[in-house]
Formats: sequence, C-alpha cells, structure tokens
Amino acid sequence: GKVAVLFGGTSAEREVSLMSGAAVLAALQGAGVDAHAFDPAERDLHALKDEGFERAFIALHGRGGEDGTVQGALELMGIPYTGSGVMASALSMDKWRTKMVWLACGLPTPRYAILDAGTDWDAVVAELGLPIYVKPVHEGSSMGATKVVAAEQLQAAWELAARYDSLVIAEEFIEGQELTAPFLEDQALPLVRIVAPDGNYDYQHKYFTDDTRYDCPCGLPAGQEAELRALVMKSARVLGCRGWGRGDLILTVEGKPYLLEMNTSPGMTSHSLVPMSARVAGLEFDALCLKILEGARL
Ligand code: DAL
Ligand code: MG
Repeated sequence: GKVAVLFGGTSAEREVSLMSGAAVLAALQGAGVDAHAFDPAERDLHALKDEGFERAFIALHGRGGEDGTVQGALELMGIPYTGSGVMASALSMDKWRTKMVWLACGLPTPRYAILDAGTDWDAVVAELGLPIYVKPVHEGSSMGATKVVAAEQLQAAWELAARYDSLVIAEEFIEGQELTAPFLEDQALPLVRIVAPDGNYDYQHKYFTDDTRYDCPCGLPAGQEAELRALVMKSARVLGCRGWGRGDLILTVEGKPYLLEMNTSPGMTSHSLVPMSARVAGLEFDALCLKILEGARL
C-alpha cells in the first residue's frame, strides 16, 4: 500500500528533516515501496486519509512531528506510523521531564537547573559549576544551545535559548567521551563515538562539516559497550519508546556514564549516526529504512 514519508514540518529542525526525509524517500522508493513525500508544512495531515495512505514513515524532527502531536493525529486517523507513540514522543521531546523520569528510576543523568528571567545566575554556577550547557527544553540538533564557560555568559545563553522555548534548562558539563546508542525494536545497535573539533558538536559540526570524527565500532571493550547498550535500552524502556530511536550519553574517564537525552525520530541524513551504526551491524541504509517501516504500528 501507499506509504507517506512525513518530513519538513515547521520546527527549527526543518532543514535537517528535509535531508532525512529525502534520504528515506529515495531509499524506500529504491527498494520498491510505493512511498510519497509529504511535507506537513505545506499540506494538511488529514489528506493522508483521503489519499489512501496506509502507513506513515515519520522523518520529522522537533516540535510538531517528533513530539507526539503528529503521532496523535495519525492515531485518530488509524494510520500506522514508525517510531514511538504519543506519550513517549512527547516525553522524550522534553529534556527536563525525561531527566526526572530517569532520576526517579535511578538512571544517571547530569545535574541540572531550570532557568527563567528571575534566576540568580551566580547560584546556578555555584550549584552546577562551570562549564554549563544551556539549552531549550524542547529542541534538537543543538538549536539554541550554548556551552557557557563563564558566569557572565549565562544571561545571553538564557536569552538565546528562550527565543526557542519558554522552558530553558542548564546542565552541568560532564567531561568525557561523547557516545550515541541507536536501537531498532528491542535491539541495541553498535555505539558511535563522536569526536568533534574542540569537543564542540554543534549544528554545523553535526550536518555540514566533515571535520567531526565518528568511530564505529566505538573502541570500548565489548563488556563495557554491552553495559552501555543495556543502560540505553533501559532508559528508552522507562520512557516508553518503541520502534527505533537513539540515546545520547557521555562516558567519563572513570567509566561513569551519564544519559543526556533520547531522540525518538533521529536524523537520517548523510552525516547521521543511526545509519552509520546500522551499517556496522550489517544493515545498509535501504534495509534500515525498510526495517523501521516494518515496525510501523498504531
Ligand atoms: N535531532 C536530530 C535530528 C537527531 O537527534 O538526530
Ligand atoms: Mg536530540
């Protein structure tokens, strides 16, 4: 039957989603699937029903796509879709409440504070130390995020993040290896280690430059990698994630992991991490897209 590849949309990550969606669409069509592009910024989602679409592949990132809203609309229309359901999508889009769930379950995540116009910046520095990551609670791809290295930068960092979101979070900086852990259904895929220039894995270094190094296999001993994979699977399970996703974490030199966030509709661009990891597991991009599509449900 007809498959809609939902991409684009109106979030700050629209540009990334256009790249993800184009890659997924080409892969599905190349594999013989009757797949069609559907940009929710240009089209009313209800057309999916009228036009006889039987399944949806969600390649949207950020709010209005990765956050449970589109998932809810698809539920009501009875169209099976890829990835997490309404609750897990909404929860995972919210970095603050994600952390609260993890902490309640005894899972490790960096300490944090929620910032607002009245926050005492010095108290935040006293509590979290420096550097501090300041980010909008509901964004991806480092949108609106700043690594603050001195207290006097906090105000500007908050102002930038607040342009994206009414909720802004500050997180203690954990020194260590940056790792990401994709999963497909209930199987963890190989970890990817990210080595960005000056440790700065920002929007440019995520999608547009070629000076970020990605190690996959990640180089950790097998036993340690297995533990981290299990940790990420647990972190996904407590959020209620399903289908596929990607957990990001930091591993300190002492070997202590910290969960950063969960991505329920990870990037599928030429620079993205899930495709990289899947390839190492023996799944080429086309096969990966087919597998994700196979997992579509209500
Ligand atoms: N938010 C981007 C798309 C990612 O996590 O891959
Ligand atoms: Mg993210």
